[in-house]
Amino acid sequence: MSRRLHGKVALITGGSMGMGASHARACVAEGAQVVIADIADEPGQALARELGDAAHYVHLDITQPAQWQQAVAATLGRFGKLNVLVNNAGILTYGPVLDYTLEQWNRTLAVNLTGQFLGIQACVPALAEAAPASIINVSSTAGLSAYPFMAGYGASKWGVRGLTKSVALELAERRIRVNSVHPGAVATAQSAALRQGQPSDPDASSLKRFAEPEEISPLIVYLASDESRFSTGAEFVADGGITAGSLGG
Ligand SMILES: NC(=O)c1ccc[n+]([C@@H]2O[C@H](COP(=O)([O-])OP(=O)(O)OC[C@H]3O[C@@H](n4cnc5c(N)ncnc54)[C@H](O)[C@@H]3O)[C@@H](O)[C@H]2O)c1
Repeated sequence: MSRRLHGKVALITGGSMGMGASHARACVAEGAQVVIADIADEPGQALARELGDAAHYVHLDITQPAQWQQAVAATLGRFGKLNVLVNNAGILTYGPVLDYTLEQWNRTLAVNLTGQFLGIQACVPALAEAAPASIINVSSTAGLSAYPFMAGYGASKWGVRGLTKSVALELAERRIRVNSVHPGAVATAQSAALRQGQPSDPDASSLKRFAEPEEISPLIVYLASDESRFSTGAEFVADGGITAGSLGG
């Protein structure tokens, strides 16, 4: 077994389910110690039990600054340091722009964009202390191009890209790298409605299928590891070709 993340401590938001759970498993398999941070306590605790001593679960609503402080303190208390922040938690909302409520808009921005900003603010002191360090902000292909009926989601994911680049330049001198990851369609709870055929489907991608979460996790492992030490402020895409262009026809 390779140990590409030996000695690293990673905090993964939205780590209880979906891609976050897969990232947690992959990081532990590569030798990391992982804090699974989520609002879904039961699956998060079950995953931490499954992963054993290398994993710890904390309740964290990423929209709440005080909970971020508690999560960082719990991480330092359990593992003594923090090298990697994976800002993965996110929600999908969609609908025609004229029907999309201000509440939907505010909630989507609060979780998908402000939650990452708060995570960066809370974690940077510990990350700088343990540098070299890496922040991985999960965006989407919806942060590289556009899908109809996704005004709020698209705005939040484009925002993640801008946040990533600005903070990457600012934090470089503290030896913290910051990159964004842009998955295409991945088979998780979040994409269940999409898999039922709306509002878009992966037939538009050249690979014509949804990815499994495990097909995205190697990108997270790479960015968490020092193998990616020359990459910061960049976009990393795993999308089955969906942003490459149209197949025509
Ligand atoms: N599934 C896809 O097709 C797809 C494609 C591109 C990008 N993404 C992005 O990837 C990330 C993971 O998506 P997924 O498909 O695994 O989603 P998912 O719904 O399967 O899992 C999301 C996790 O985030 C947690 N979460 C939600 N709100 C939270 C909050 N306020 N605080 C803490 N945790 C919270 C949920 O409890 C859940 O465990 C998201 O940012 C999503 O936008 C997903």
